[in-house]
Amino acid sequence: MDSLLTDIDHVAIAVHDIDAAIAWYANTFGALVVHREDVVSDGISEALIKVGESYVQLLTPTREDSTVAAFLDRRGEGLHHVGYRVADCASALAMLKASGARVIDEVPRPGSRATTIAFVHPKTSFGTLIELVQESSDMLPTHQ
Ligand code: CO
Repeated sequence: MDSLLTDIDHVAIAVHDIDAAIAWYANTFGALVVHREDVVSDGISEALIKVGESYVQLLTPTREDSTVAAFLDRRGEGLHHVGYRVADCASALAMLKASGARVIDEVPRPGSRATTIAFVHPKTSFGTLIELVQESSDMLPTHQ
Protein backbone atom coordinates (compact mmCIF):
# COMPACT_ATOMS: atom_id res chain seq x y z
CA MET A 1 0.00 0.00 0.00
CA ASP A 2 1.05 3.61 -0.37
CA SER A 3 2.48 5.23 2.72
CA LEU A 4 0.00 7.15 4.84
CA LEU A 5 2.83 9.56 5.68
CA THR A 6 3.27 12.09 2.87
CA ASP A 7 5.98 14.23 4.48
CA ILE A 8 7.55 15.23 7.75
CA ASP A 9 5.44 18.21 8.76
CA HIS A 10 7.50 19.24 11.75
CA VAL A 11 10.04 18.19 14.32
CA ALA A 12 9.04 19.64 17.69
CA ILE A 13 11.65 20.67 20.24
CA ALA A 14 10.75 21.65 23.80
CA VAL A 15 12.71 24.60 25.15
CA HIS A 16 12.72 26.74 28.29
CA ASP A 17 13.49 30.04 26.53
CA ILE A 18 11.83 30.22 23.12
CA ASP A 19 13.30 33.62 22.27
CA ALA A 20 16.82 32.32 22.92
CA ALA A 21 16.11 29.26 20.76
CA ILE A 22 14.69 31.41 17.93
CA ALA A 23 17.78 33.63 18.07
CA TRP A 24 20.07 30.57 18.04
CA TYR A 25 18.45 29.14 14.88
CA ALA A 26 18.65 32.55 13.21
CA ASN A 27 22.24 33.25 14.17
CA THR A 28 23.54 29.73 13.63
CA PHE A 29 21.66 28.62 10.51
CA GLY A 30 20.03 31.78 9.20
CA ALA A 31 16.75 29.87 9.73
CA LEU A 32 13.87 32.22 10.42
CA VAL A 33 10.51 31.99 12.11
CA VAL A 34 7.59 32.00 9.66
CA HIS A 35 4.77 31.55 12.17
CA ARG A 36 4.14 32.23 15.86
CA GLU A 37 1.11 30.98 17.73
CA ASP A 38 -0.07 30.41 21.28
CA VAL A 39 -2.21 27.31 21.54
CA VAL A 40 -4.20 28.20 24.65
CA SER A 41 -5.91 24.81 24.98
CA ASP A 42 -2.51 23.04 25.12
CA GLY A 43 -0.82 25.71 27.26
CA ILE A 44 2.01 26.19 24.79
CA SER A 45 3.58 28.86 22.64
CA GLU A 46 5.12 27.74 19.37
CA ALA A 47 7.46 29.17 16.76
CA LEU A 48 7.71 27.50 13.35
CA ILE A 49 11.00 27.73 11.49
CA LYS A 50 10.82 26.69 7.84
CA VAL A 51 13.20 23.96 6.66
CA GLY A 52 12.43 22.99 3.07
CA GLU A 53 8.76 21.99 3.01
CA SER A 54 8.85 21.11 6.72
CA TYR A 55 9.24 22.98 9.98
CA VAL A 56 11.21 22.94 13.17
CA GLN A 57 8.60 23.69 15.84
CA LEU A 58 10.02 25.29 18.96
CA LEU A 59 7.66 24.73 21.89
CA THR A 60 7.56 26.31 25.31
CA PRO A 61 4.91 25.99 28.02
CA THR A 62 2.74 28.96 28.95
CA ARG A 63 1.20 27.24 31.99
CA GLU A 64 2.48 25.06 34.83
CA ASP A 65 -0.06 22.34 33.99
CA SER A 66 0.97 22.11 30.33
CA THR A 67 2.18 18.68 29.24
CA VAL A 68 5.26 20.43 27.81
CA ALA A 69 6.03 21.85 31.28
CA ALA A 70 5.86 18.31 32.66
CA PHE A 71 8.09 17.08 29.82
CA LEU A 72 10.72 19.75 30.54
CA ASP A 73 10.68 18.90 34.25
CA ARG A 74 11.06 15.20 33.58
CA ARG A 75 13.30 15.05 30.52
CA GLY A 76 14.79 18.51 30.05
CA GLU A 77 15.00 20.32 26.73
CA GLY A 78 15.05 18.41 23.48
CA LEU A 79 13.06 16.45 20.93
CA HIS A 80 9.41 16.33 21.99
CA HIS A 81 7.51 14.83 19.05
CA VAL A 82 7.52 14.31 15.29
CA GLY A 83 4.62 15.55 13.18
CA TYR A 84 3.92 13.46 10.08
CA ARG A 85 1.80 14.94 7.32
CA VAL A 86 -1.16 12.81 6.25
CA ALA A 87 -3.82 13.43 3.63
CA ASP A 88 -6.69 12.50 5.96
CA CYS A 89 -6.14 12.62 9.71
CA ALA A 90 -9.36 10.81 10.59
CA SER A 91 -8.71 7.82 8.35
CA ALA A 92 -5.03 7.60 9.37
CA LEU A 93 -6.07 7.65 13.04
CA ALA A 94 -8.70 4.96 12.41
CA MET A 95 -6.12 2.71 10.72
CA LEU A 96 -3.68 3.21 13.60
CA LYS A 97 -6.34 2.34 16.16
CA ALA A 98 -7.37 -0.72 14.15
CA SER A 99 -3.73 -1.85 14.16
CA GLY A 100 -3.66 -1.71 17.96
CA ALA A 101 -1.78 1.56 18.41
CA ARG A 102 -2.50 3.48 21.59
CA VAL A 103 -3.69 6.98 20.77
CA ILE A 104 -3.86 10.13 22.87
CA ASP A 105 -6.57 11.77 20.76
CA GLU A 106 -9.48 9.43 20.08
CA VAL A 107 -10.74 11.80 17.39
CA PRO A 108 -8.91 14.46 15.33
CA ARG A 109 -8.85 17.97 16.76
CA PRO A 110 -7.77 21.43 15.61
CA GLY A 111 -4.04 22.18 15.73
CA SER A 112 -2.10 25.36 15.03
CA ARG A 113 -2.12 26.91 11.50
CA ALA A 114 -5.69 25.63 11.04
CA THR A 115 -4.40 22.05 10.78
CA THR A 116 -6.28 18.96 11.91
CA ILE A 117 -4.20 16.80 14.22
CA ALA A 118 -4.14 13.73 16.45
CA PHE A 119 -1.43 12.47 18.79
CA VAL A 120 -0.34 8.83 19.00
CA HIS A 121 1.07 7.55 22.29
CA PRO A 122 4.83 6.81 22.32
CA LYS A 123 4.19 3.49 24.10
CA THR A 124 3.18 1.76 20.86
CA SER A 125 5.43 3.78 18.52
CA PHE A 126 8.90 2.85 19.75
CA GLY A 127 9.18 5.69 22.24
CA THR A 128 8.31 8.54 19.91
CA LEU A 129 5.31 10.78 20.45
CA ILE A 130 3.78 11.09 16.96
CA GLU A 131 1.43 13.77 15.71
CA LEU A 132 -0.62 13.18 12.57
CA VAL A 133 -1.01 16.49 10.74
CA GLN A 134 -3.53 17.22 8.04
CA GLU A 135 -2.83 20.61 6.50
CA SER A 136 -5.76 22.86 5.75
CA SER A 137 -6.25 23.09 2.00
CA ASP A 138 -5.17 26.73 1.80
CA MET A 139 -1.86 26.02 3.57
CA LEU A 140 -0.58 23.16 1.45
CA PRO A 141 3.05 23.44 0.43
CA THR A 142 3.38 25.19 -2.91
CA HIS A 143 4.88 22.17 -4.69
CA GLN A 144 1.73 20.09 -4.19
CO1 CO B 1 3.33 19.41 16.83
